[in-house]
Order: sequence, then C-alpha cells, then structure tokens
Amino acid sequence: MSAKYLLIKEKIKKFKKKIKIDGDKSISIRSLLLASQAVGVSKAKNLLKSEDVFSAINCLRTLGIKIILKNNTCFIEGRGINGFRFRKNITLDAGNSGTVGRLILPLIIKSPYKIKIKGDKSLSRRDFSRVTQPLNNIGINFFPTKKKNLPLYLKGSNFLRPIKYIERLGSAQCKTCIMLACLNTPGEIEIFAKKSRNHTELMYKSLNIPISIKVGKKFDLIKVSSPKKINSFKINIPGDISSSAFFIVLTILTNDSYLILSHINLNSSRLGIIKILNKMGANIKLKNIKNYNGERCGDIHVKSTKNLKSINCPTSLNSSAIDEFLIIFLVAAKANGVSFFKNLSELNQKESPRLKLGSKILNMMGVKTKLTKNSIKIYGNPNLSLKKKYELKNYYKDHRVMALCTIAALTLGGEWKVYNPDSIKTSFPSFLKILKKNLGAKIH
Ligand code: S3P
Repeated sequence: MSAKYLLIKEKIKKFKKKIKIDGDKSISIRSLLLASQAVGVSKAKNLLKSEDVFSAINCLRTLGIKIILKNNTCFIEGRGINGFRFRKNITLDAGNSGTVGRLILPLIIKSPYKIKIKGDKSLSRRDFSRVTQPLNNIGINFFPTKKKNLPLYLKGSNFLRPIKYIERLGSAQCKTCIMLACLNTPGEIEIFAKKSRNHTELMYKSLNIPISIKVGKKFDLIKVSSPKKINSFKINIPGDISSSAFFIVLTILTNDSYLILSHINLNSSRLGIIKILNKMGANIKLKNIKNYNGERCGDIHVKSTKNLKSINCPTSLNSSAIDEFLIIFLVAAKANGVSFFKNLSELNQKESPRLKLGSKILNMMGVKTKLTKNSIKIYGNPNLSLKKKYELKNYYKDHRVMALCTIAALTLGGEWKVYNPDSIKTSFPSFLKILKKNLGAKIH
C-alpha cells in the first residue's frame, strides 16, 4: 500500500553526484500518438513510465493499437493514419493529463461513433474549449455543445475542412492539437501560434510530415498537411528538463553541492528555467550537447549558489518555463530583493491553480507575496530558514506542488508532512528514489 504522507524532518546533506532523470513527458506522449498513426512497429526507448503516459497508452489500446513494454523499450504497432478500430460506446480516460486529453481528440475526428472523453477530478476542472472550438471549426461536434470541461462526447465527421487558426495562449497543447488534426483533414492547415515548446514541429520534420515554419519573434506561422503515410520510427527519449528542475533547485539551495544531470532534453523552447536561474545568479552549465531525432540533448551541471538575486522575469521566457514556475518561486523566496513574475494567468489553468497555490505555500512558509490574477511579487529573504511544522494537504494532488514542497523541506528545513505523495507518479515516478538512494535524503 502506498504511504498516506511523507514525513521530512531533516535537510538534505551536501552531495556531489551524477544522476539520470526519467524520460521527457511531452516527447513520450507525442511519440506514442504519432507511432499509432504510423505504419508498422515503432520503438521508443526510455519512454517515461508515468501515469500520464499510461493514460496515453490505455487510450490507444482502447482504440485498437497494440503496445508492448519490454525492458526499457516500448513497441507500438501503428495502423496508419486513422487506422484506429472504432467501436460503439468507447470511453477514453485521459486521467490527470491535459496533454493526453487534448491531443487524443484530433486523432479520433473521423470516428463513425460518438466517443466519450473523461479525466480525473483535476482534469475535469480544466478548460477544453480552447481545443474544442478550433476543432469545431474544422467540422467536429462536441456534446453537450456549450460545455467547456470533461467529460465530453466527440462526434466524428467525414466532412472536414482545413482552417486558419490563431493560437494566442502560447499553449503547445492547443497548437499540437490542430497540427495533429491535419492528419485527418484535406488541404493545408495554417496556424499562427504564439511561441511554445516545439517538439511536434521537430517530430513532423523528422517523420517527413509536410510542414513549413516561418519563425517570428513572438509568433510562428506553421503550415501543415497530411502525408500519404507515416513510416514507423525509432526514438530514444531524453530526460525531462521539467523533472530536472527540482534537482537543479535542490542543488542551488544546498551548501557545497554539485550535480550533473545526464542526457537531458535541452530544446531551446524548454530552457526558460536555466535562463531565469542563471539571471538570478545561479551557476548552471550545459555540456556535451548532441542532436537526437532533431532534439538537442546534453548534460546539465549545477553548483550551489550563495548570493541569489531577485528577478523581474521577462515575459518572453514565460512559455519556455511554464511548468517550472513553482520551483522558480522557491528560489525567488531565497533571493535578495523582490522578484516579479507577470502575464502568468495560464499558471492557474494547470493541474492546480498554481499561481494562487504557489503564493499560498510561500505564505505558509512565512514568505511575503503580492498576488494578482496574473502576476506575483515575491519578497525574498536570503536567510530564510524554516523551523515550524508544515502540512501540504489540499493541493489537487498536483505532482509539481508535491515536488515543490519536498524540495522546500529538504533545503529550508522545518518538519513537513506531504500528503498524497503518489501524485508525483503522474510525471516523475523516480523522484523519491533519486532523492533517497542517490542523494541520501531522509524521507519517511
Ligand atoms: C505540454 C504543454 C504545456 C505544459 C504541459 C505539457 C505539452 O501545456 O504545461 O505540461 O506537452 O504540449 P500548455 O500547452 O497548456 O501550456
């Protein structure tokens, strides 16, 4: 049986280590979805084995795709574009994953039967109209018609039209959803998208799916159309920089420590965390950089940092650090001066309302914040040290909130009870094992 809560009463001791991090979540989910549309068996090595990824696997299996996990390789037997076995009364369960929930939709838009899509409590409070509206313009109907959240029913169509779509949120999920819809749509789809992670674009290029990209400063113009066929492929999935972020900050905030995180995805659309922390005075270096399947990968070297500076965070970095802000806030709490993060209303649309919850957790730790709907000011204190008892209980079981509090406990002290520790399994199943076995953290 899994533990009800974690008890952390001791800070972590100094360490000098090299670690590996679980596979990238965005790339793992995209690999599965695209492999399901390819012809033949694709192989994904080092696929992330987290609950979100299993939600993707389960949805694809429900749609008739054979998937086998053997040692560290995942075999996906693709049946070609729109090759799913549609049946009556199918329900697809996306679990906790916004990415699975939003990216499975464009692959089933030709289903002759209504398909139900559902998710867990956290996913069911998140906005799906951001993808159902543009899919509606392509010719897909969702029921109940005006409902914005899961569960929803999708009714497929054979009369689909290409659209011109403007993506203003900087959401890679919205952009990718419409990019995937092109596989089932005649003609060319045009997407004018605010910058966000570009893993789908890179995969399209490496799989020879017709794509052209005009790169702009804030927006990219992307044109996609369906290939006749996608060939099966092999992919070696690098470590996830969003999971790495917790260990980067753990090292920065622990005296006399040094950490190497090897073979991590270093796609520039994901490097906001490195840029922001280095601006705050951290010492993070990227080494041994190589190219794998069009993605940049390499090692991250990080040292403890004594004199952290506050930051007025440029909004141009928001999308490239969107999943890392919670842990960046912890660094801001230890920095000298007031940090300011703005235009971040999207953070409240995540697995939990992270801007609000992040502020609340900092306040619980005695850190002053000023919160608005889309910004936060954090009044940092380089001498911040925790002495009291703290509890993390009602947090929508958001995996990144759980990891934030674990790192806070191990670096700032106090006696912490972190409830529902299994929440971390949605994105980073090895999190506690690396902390305890590799780095010697005392967690009960
Ligand atoms: C993701 C995109 C981001 C991110 C999420 C994964 C993806 O969401 O927060 O964890 O794989 O495309 P948004 O597209 O909603 O910003």
